[in-house]
Amino acid sequence: MTLQDVKRLFKQYTSREHSWLSVPITAATLLVLLVFVKSCQGIIYSHSNECRIYRLGYTIDEARALAAALSDEQADSLVARGEHDTIAYPIIGQRYFIAKNFDHYLALHKVDTAASLADIVAIVNVGDFPEGAIQAAHCDTSKGYLMLVNGQHFLDESYKPDSLVLFKKSYCYEEQKALSPVVEAFKAMQQECKKETDAQLMVNSAYRSYKQQITTHKNNNKRYVAQPGNSEHQTGLAIDVTSLQHPEKWAFDKSKEGVWMRENCHKYGFILRYPEKQSRILGYSYEPWHLRYVGKDVAKQIHDEDITFDEYYAYYLERQQAQ
Ligand code: DAL
Ligand code: ZN
Repeated sequence: MTLQDVKRLFKQYTSREHSWLSVPITAATLLVLLVFVKSCQGIIYSHSNECRIYRLGYTIDEARALAAALSDEQADSLVARGEHDTIAYPIIGQRYFIAKNFDHYLALHKVDTAASLADIVAIVNVGDFPEGAIQAAHCDTSKGYLMLVNGQHFLDESYKPDSLVLFKKSYCYEEQKALSPVVEAFKAMQQECKKETDAQLMVNSAYRSYKQQITTHKNNNKRYVAQPGNSEHQTGLAIDVTSLQHPEKWAFDKSKEGVWMRENCHKYGFILRYPEKQSRILGYSYEPWHLRYVGKDVAKQIHDEDITFDEYYAYYLERQQAQ
């Protein structure tokens, strides 16, 4: 039967002479159409990411949320595992979840089941992948006060910041230089600290050239010193601070001015770059003396959110840039 035949029959049975037949025929036609559309929808849904993920044992709400959070490739890779993963759903609800890192989060959990979900997200976000750290890349110096220098982001031997400024002699044991806003911010912080704790903050070390870092690295514990090219002291934005009253670093850590500095440095644009609880994330041990200048707004945000600069950079600068 051709389409022409169907049309002719339809016309014939819906003509005036058979008008009593037109209502059931139209209704039947609509019903057939509805069944057809529904089965098409069923076929399309059964191939959707939501349905494929649901079939792995997730609830329908979890499958819907995962399908919305993941790219097609990530959904394919989740489905290819062929089984329910206990952290796949909770990880997408983590505060600093970055979709492109999804597979790495699941991979890290497989080899480190004791790590909390927040730690898994933080460790992977800063480039420490279970399959091996991300490839080293040049530091993006165009980010200015927000440039990131760490194990994976390095500066060339020739990099030297423009216009370094000397700290006042009374603020350091030997001559130290940094970028001008760093020197100004330190001065303001030092004055307030003196008022509140009666102790005098001192700069032990500030700008270090690539060459100086070679010597520092050679002569010190590697848990506390970056490789040449990987130290943010080379940016002119980092300072190591103790006090005249407590010049020894660990004594400074426990002193009232040390505590005051950690609690207040963000008001002057500094962050404590290697905080105690983050050594797993950053690969360096706790350094109560090492401050990094990032400007007041970012310092406040990092302080309030209680994250490291590396996590801030991955989530707020790189992720947003990629979107
Ligand atoms: N102390 C830090 C890690 C540096 O050497 O830059
Ligand atoms: Zn330092």
